[in-house]
Amino acid sequence: MQQIRRNRRLRTNDAIRSLVRENIITPHDFLVPLFIVEGKDVKEEIPSMPNYYRYSLDLLGNEVKELWSLGLKSVLLFVKVPDHLKDNKGTEALNSDGLMQRAIKTVKEAVPEMLVMTDVALDPYSSYGHDGIVEDGQIINDETCKILAEMSLSHAQAGADFVAPSDMMDGRILSMRELLEKENYKNTGIMSYSAKYASAFYGPFRDALDSAPGFGDKKTYQMDFANRDEAIKETLMDIEEGADIVMVKPGLCYLDMVRDIRDVVDVPVAVYQVSGEYAMLKAAAEKGWLDHDAVMLEQIMAFKRAGAQIIASYFAKDVVKLLN
Ligand code: PBG
Repeated sequence: MQQIRRNRRLRTNDAIRSLVRENIITPHDFLVPLFIVEGKDVKEEIPSMPNYYRYSLDLLGNEVKELWSLGLKSVLLFVKVPDHLKDNKGTEALNSDGLMQRAIKTVKEAVPEMLVMTDVALDPYSSYGHDGIVEDGQIINDETCKILAEMSLSHAQAGADFVAPSDMMDGRILSMRELLEKENYKNTGIMSYSAKYASAFYGPFRDALDSAPGFGDKKTYQMDFANRDEAIKETLMDIEEGADIVMVKPGLCYLDMVRDIRDVVDVPVAVYQVSGEYAMLKAAAEKGWLDHDAVMLEQIMAFKRAGAQIIASYFAKDVVKLLN
């Protein structure tokens, strides 16, 4: 047969490639993680995350204004808690004048329209560096859920739009949703880290917050990275319990799950390109082994192609500057 179908016709030049492109990246795709510390005039680079910083509250407002001016409209807040405020139950997490609660207000004062999401987990507050309460070397599920629910309420009261539980306790979404409803925070959303794997890619993040587990690992609550079906189960359960947005984490190694989940759920799907993914590209680019910007865009596009509607990424600012 004579060749009549030629795929290269649609790749001839930039104009035709643009016309038939199936996915595009926009600033609206991103959720920007922000690390916050106590102190004044602090903008400190995280050693294992080049060009990424922890900010004190007095500098946070300006950073948020810059993000807004770039078209980045959503942030995800994390706090680094001083050691002397850590204990087994994460008591400081419920302090209405705690760092997180003040950070939420600071962002809202600087840019009232900015969507504020907050990390909900005990690890930055835990003297053991675990996401739950420790008893006899075990992470206690149900007691932890109660605290996570109160933590969510405290964030909502400070002005958070969405709470984002990253702990992987069973039943935490339901505990949180029930308390928020009861206290009349009906419009506070929940973005669940529903398929969160026990991953070695979180290393630099734990440096950033000084939150590495003091003993053992997180394999009794975060998922085994050998599993696919389990991620679907986790995600569907979280939606039943009231999650408004579900998330897959980490990102690049888990694109199969992003697609599988996108195909079966009726809520938006987020992906988290985590700290170790960021560090890998920075390191390779520093050595001159990879073209930083080109690889960055290729990776972000991969998330979109896989089906992610929201991308939490430390590259958000870099990407948007490049797009402009
Ligand atoms: C805390 C939390 C972690 C991350 C987000 N929330 C670390 C962990 O679970 O140990 C990782 C994010 C990243 O690596 O960028 N529960």
